[in-house]
Amino acid sequence: MKDLIDILELSTDDINGLIKTALDIIENPAKYSEKCKGKKIATLFYEPSTRTRLSFESAMLELGGSVIGFSQASSSSASKGESVADTVRVVSCFADVIAMRHPKEGAPYVAAKYASIPVINAGDGGHNHPTQTLADLLTIYREKGRLDNLTVGFCGDLKYGRTVHSLISALSRYEGIKIALISPDELKVPNYVKEDVLEKNNMPYEETRSLEETMPNLDILYMTRVQQERFSDENEYLRLRDSYILNPEKLKNAKADMCILHPLPRVNEISVAVDDDPRACYFKQVLNGKYMRMALILKLLAEKEAGRAQPLKEEGDLIRGEIKCQNPMCITTIEQELEHVFRLVDKEKGIYRCIYCDSEAKR
Ligand code: NCD
Repeated sequence: MKDLIDILELSTDDINGLIKTALDIIENPAKYSEKCKGKKIATLFYEPSTRTRLSFESAMLELGGSVIGFSQASSSSASKGESVADTVRVVSCFADVIAMRHPKEGAPYVAAKYASIPVINAGDGGHNHPTQTLADLLTIYREKGRLDNLTVGFCGDLKYGRTVHSLISALSRYEGIKIALISPDELKVPNYVKEDVLEKNNMPYEETRSLEETMPNLDILYMTRVQQERFSDENEYLRLRDSYILNPEKLKNAKADMCILHPLPRVNEISVAVDDDPRACYFKQVLNGKYMRMALILKLLAEKEAGRAQPLKEEGDLIRGEIKCQNPMCITTIEQELEHVFRLVDKEKGIYRCIYCDSEAKR
């Protein structure tokens, strides 16, 4: 593989290999401190970030490499109207790997198509966030000793929470996973996750509004922030933002060894009184993210060096330029020259999905 845009581009063996490398980095940091000497990562962040950008940057620095990039679109030529395709062709002249965060869904996919160096999706709109998932998986593995046979509850904004979509996809690779989706009706997981991941892989799941009722069954509770920046209606956000607040009282019904995760930043969906609970793992998750990003950078650079960096394949039953993507968050809405491409995902129902953002179209 050349890039990491969607977590499902990694096989179970790939994920296990990254976990093995990360654990070795934790044990033997000195062994890795010069592995990327002379290499550069470009962090292209068109949207705010604390953890993810600094995590990529410290990952590269701890591998002996260096960092270039920008942390807001306004300080890049995007503000002059430069396309993602042109920007990454330029950055390919300066760096060895790109980490890109963008508010439009599918932007890192476009970047991967045009960059000659590996591109890592560091979060695209409300769509995907595969490296947060790597952080989540290493945390689950270190806390529970396994990635299979777990009941995992996702709570909060499951519609726009991109970390939720990527983690559910990754968990579909493991046996014995049961999923509880805890959210208000307005913030349920999108169809592409429900139909293409949960149902397609026969993963048992329930949708519920009640955190309290679900709590006793959970091995992992994944709390999320209501994603204010994705709402077109501020009042709707204000109405939904406090739907769930985890506090010590609610944890009384939880298993003694349940693991509480949150990709952070937290607003008020986990009360600070929970932070001292031994089940609270969200700050460990941040550190695990750095180790997994180190492992990922090493893997992508090694594959490129070995000539194994296969670019993204646009395969399957595709229709090009015939229908337009209707999702206002899709990269095609701001980059007019991009060809609209849809992939057939359900032959019987005639359902196609946009290759950039996964939103649905019927023919
Ligand atoms: C998440 C994100 O950006 O999607 N943060 C992160 O990368 N750790 C979650 C969020 O912003 O709520």
